[in-house]
This record gives sequence, C-alpha cells and structure tokens, in this order.
Amino acid sequence: MSALDDLLTCLRFPSVSTDPKHRGDVRACADWLLAKLRSLGLDAALHETPGHPVLLARNVHRPGRRTVLLYGHYDVQPPEPLGEWKSPPFEPVVRDGRIYARGATDNKGQLMAHVAGLEATLAAHGDLPVNLTILFEGEEEIGSPNLRPFLEAHRDELACDIVAISDTGMVAAGVGTFTYGLRGIACLEVRVHGPSIDLHSGIFGGTVANPATVAARLAASLHDAEGRVAIPGFYDSVRPLQEWERAAWAELGDGETETLELTGSPALFGEPGFNERERRWARPTAEVNGIGGGWQGAGSKTVIPREAFVKISFRLVPDQDPAAILDLAEQHLRSQAPAGVRLEIVRGHTGSAYLTDPQSHLGQAACRALEKTFGGRVALIREGGSIPIVQDFKQVLGADTLLLGLALPDCQAHAPNENFPVASFEAGIRLNQELLRELAS
Ligand code: BES
Ligand code: ZN
Repeated sequence: MSALDDLLTCLRFPSVSTDPKHRGDVRACADWLLAKLRSLGLDAALHETPGHPVLLARNVHRPGRRTVLLYGHYDVQPPEPLGEWKSPPFEPVVRDGRIYARGATDNKGQLMAHVAGLEATLAAHGDLPVNLTILFEGEEEIGSPNLRPFLEAHRDELACDIVAISDTGMVAAGVGTFTYGLRGIACLEVRVHGPSIDLHSGIFGGTVANPATVAARLAASLHDAEGRVAIPGFYDSVRPLQEWERAAWAELGDGETETLELTGSPALFGEPGFNERERRWARPTAEVNGIGGGWQGAGSKTVIPREAFVKISFRLVPDQDPAAILDLAEQHLRSQAPAGVRLEIVRGHTGSAYLTDPQSHLGQAACRALEKTFGGRVALIREGGSIPIVQDFKQVLGADTLLLGLALPDCQAHAPNENFPVASFEAGIRLNQELLRELAS
C-alpha cells in the first residue's frame, strides 16, 4: 500500500468526535491506526479514556538518544453542511492534485505524513535515529477533555525532550513555516431564561423581557462599534507584540488581500491599530459562534420565546488567563442583562495561549529540516487557532512543542470541501524524515 492509499483509507472513517452516533467509527479509525503502527514494528496500544481512545506507540528507547514525541489527532469536525460538498466528505477523492475529504488537512493528512515519514525512514535505514513516542488522540476537536489526565497518569512513559506537531498552517505553498505561537481559547454559552412558556406576543408583548432580544443585546455588548472587545479588563494582561514580529510578519506580503479572498467577506473589520495578521495571530478576540431562540420556521409566528442562547468563544494571547477571562465575561454579561430574565452561564473548554522561542536549539533544528524540505527561508509566524494540549505538554512533561504545520490557507479546515494537496502530503513525508535526522544530531 502506498502512503497515499493509507491516507485515503484513514479518511474513509467518519471519526467525528462530537457526535455519539460516530463513536464506533472513531474507534474503528483508532484500531486501523493501531494496526498500521504495529506493522511498522512499533510497540503500540490503545488506551481507554472516558471518551475516545488514546493511541500510544514507541520504538525501543535507548539511552543517550533524544526522545521525540509526535502528537496528532485522528478525530475530525462534523462534515455539515453536507449539501455544500462537491464530493461526499468520507469518500476521499483526488481532484486537481488535492485530496478532498473531511480531515484531509485537519488532521489526518498531517498525521499520516508523520506515519509515512517514519515508514520511509525505517525502509531506508531499518531504524529510527531517535527514541520515538507517538501520541494520537481522538478528542482534539472537542477540546481534549481526557488528555491532560492521561498525560499525568503516563508522565514517565511520555517523558520526552521535545514534542512535534503538524496541525497548523503554512503561509503559502512551498514556504516552510515554523509556528512559534498559538492563541488560547475560552468558551461559554449563555442561556437566557424568561417566561415559563412561549407567550403570545400580542397578548403579553410590552410586559416582559424578550429572551431573544436580550441574547442579541448580550452578543452586541461584546464589542464597541469599531471592533474592540468591550469587556472591562479584557486587555489588561495582554503581552504586547514585539517589534521583530511586526517586522517579520510585514515581510510576508499582503495578508489583507489574501484574507479578503479566502473569506469572501466584502471588507475586513477588526480592532483598530493592528493589521489583519496582527489581529489574527497576536490579539485576543471575542466571537459569537451561534445565537438562537424563538421561531426559526417559515413565515412569522408571533411569540415571545421563553428562552434564547448565545455561544461565545474568546481567543486568547499571552498572558491572558482563560479562567480569569471567563470570570470577566460572566460579570460583564450579567451586568448587561435587564431584570426579567435569568442568565445561565455554562463554561466550555479552555486553553492558554502558547509561545515558544524559535531561536532555541531544537527550534533551529526544526527550521533546518524545513529549509531542507522546502528550500528558501523559513517563515516565523504565530497562528490564530488553538491546540490547548501544547500547554499541558509544557506543564506536565516539561517539553516544548515544535509546530510544523502543512495546511495551506485555502485547505478549508472545518469547512465544506476540506482538502489537502498531494504535494503537501509528499513534502510532509520528506519533512518528517529530515526532522528526525535533525533532531537526532
Ligand atoms: N488544527 C486546529 C488548530 C489550528 C488551526 C491551529 C489553524 C493553528 C492554525 C485544531 O484542530 C483546532 O481546530 N482546534 C480547535 C481547538 C478547540 C476545539 C479547543 C480550535 O482552534 O478551534
Ligand atoms: Zn481542527
């Protein structure tokens, strides 16, 4: 089986971690990966968690060699809206040099590049140059609720010098990219409870607070008119961008045009005083991810809904503390709600931002591997997305993480028609071989 065939097989498992009806599919994907890693001669096992299984694998660790932990996730985001896919999300196809499927880029394409890189190294040398530990999980897309306890329980077994992850992006095709920072995240849901039943809006309109109106007001209260987050204290602990970062990012070319194209939005909008990249990579945000309540069907229905909701997530930067931000948000939201509704605030997953030193010894080794793979200069960037477990690797295992992403800006992660260029997959396989070599020396 070629590496590409393996990736296509992996993509056929609908391993959607949020959806209980796919529980068996998530496990089947883990079982398939287990068999694949065993076929490479690694000592591999599935570990049960209260959720989806963790896959651990290792070669024989020998003293005196560097220990590298490769992390990836085999779960995927839900594929909906299904009608917008040009081919079914779990029937991968290659069109115009790109593999189309849910998970093609996030994260199965990148995870399988690790696996195929190992396979190629083993085929060429019969051995790996490092002590290797593989940790693949099935719950990244739901915030890795069981992974921190797993790290704590397996601290000794997982001890390593460095973690490497390919689950971020490249600035452009062919440009080796080292991501030295990620934003953190903090989620919450506000449920607005009003009357005990849906009310006739003619009979009762004007006498009680309307939960849908309150939900809209709460959502709108998160920002000022120009796009700054309006929660008091929100920016207090934000670490300012450094001059070298602003300069390095400015050299990457015009991010605004590309983002306009990728998003299809009529214009960009956001916090004044920062350009588009700075706002995405180094500034914190508040986003409404969903809002609802009341009549959603055809035509009008004259009701005052008894409840409504807003789902909110914050992207965080160093040195914001996720729990402290949720406290501030909760205080703010409660202060904005009128009498006549009861707010129920349910906290969701959290993770701190991550920042590491790209000039560290192993950071430099990773940059050499990127240079050898892609040629040219390596782009040093931060990213807006979050991989909360990298902070846990630091806190529990004491290890830094090298983020060597392969996703391109137009791979449509989390969206319909997610795709991964075959050329990116092949480059990823070479990168993994170079990386092992560089990290060994
Ligand atoms: N691969 C992404 C994270 C990512 C994407 C990092 C792009 C940098 C650039 C990951 O699978 C993801 O989507 N993470 C979630 C985390 C959340 C569910 C806790 C995210 O960022 O929304
Ligand atoms: Zn993702």
